Amino acid sequence: MAARKKVLVARRIFSDIVGRLAEHFDVEEPLDDTPLPQAELIRRLQGKAGLFATGTELIDATLLAACPELRAVCLMTVGYNNVDLAACSARDVRVTNAPEVLTETTADFGFGLMLAAARRITEAEHYLRAGRWGQWSIDLLAGADVHGATLGILGMGRIGQAIAKRGALGFGMQVIYHNRSRLAPELETPLGAQWVSKDELLRGADHLILVVPYSAQAHHLIGASELALMKPTATLTNIARGGVVDDAALAEALAAGRLAAAGLDVFEGEPALNPALLALSNVVLTPHIASASLPTRRAMCNLAVDNLIALLGGGEPLTGLN
Ligand code: DGY
Repeated sequence: MAARKKVLVARRIFSDIVGRLAEHFDVEEPLDDTPLPQAELIRRLQGKAGLFATGTELIDATLLAACPELRAVCLMTVGYNNVDLAACSARDVRVTNAPEVLTETTADFGFGLMLAAARRITEAEHYLRAGRWGQWSIDLLAGADVHGATLGILGMGRIGQAIAKRGALGFGMQVIYHNRSRLAPELETPLGAQWVSKDELLRGADHLILVVPYSAQAHHLIGASELALMKPTATLTNIARGGVVDDAALAEALAAGRLAAAGLDVFEGEPALNPALLALSNVVLTPHIASASLPTRRAMCNLAVDNLIALLGGGEPLTGLN
């Protein structure tokens, strides 16, 4: 009987899903939930054919050169900016991600974050918990309307479209978007979504939400000059990746009242945060949890497992990237 292939699980995941992997492979699990430094990841990958990866491992040429037996890297995230795809292809290492299973959950969260920023929900809760609610007043914590406003979406992939659907059909919003490629009319028309240039998007949006994948070209796609184009009454929500927004420039704009509010789930250099953001009351901050409903996190993990089983069994993955 052929020896069972070996797989490393990079971070703590659900034990029954590790159990699924163990039906097929010899599985090494992490000892605790700390991200593995690259040298340790390389050490543990020796002799492993597969890696169950998250968004926190750096899979680059150095790692690949040091792990010649590695054949499959299966991510439980949709984003794969931590993986050098070209380097993987050059070494015949197949890579998969986890699209679709998280689309609706992530769109729910992005929409919620936008609502919280526009209607000052967390600011209001902090105000109340701090015992500052002394009396009613006409403009107490008054925010911006979301229904009927113009929703701007930067990046119109699956998640962008799911957010557009919520805005157009649920909240009567006008949807404008910018994306490298324009949507087909059968997708645009039911949402009344209108493709506009990036500048038009920035100028026109009452609520701008970022859903673009991170790449070198997307670094600081929203910086001081882009923020200067936005309405001072507008909100900005980032559920894409840290680095897409220049967080220092954003904090300055929020502090100066050049932008009304922001909702941020991702940060440059996370889990560290620009301290200027922490000092502001007009920003809602969450720790990269847009996809974190339990059923969705389980579906993401199960898809990565399905991909490992397919690839290491000699088949084609469900959601291959190379
Ligand atoms: C993704 O899947 O890329 C998410 O950002 C992870 O939570």
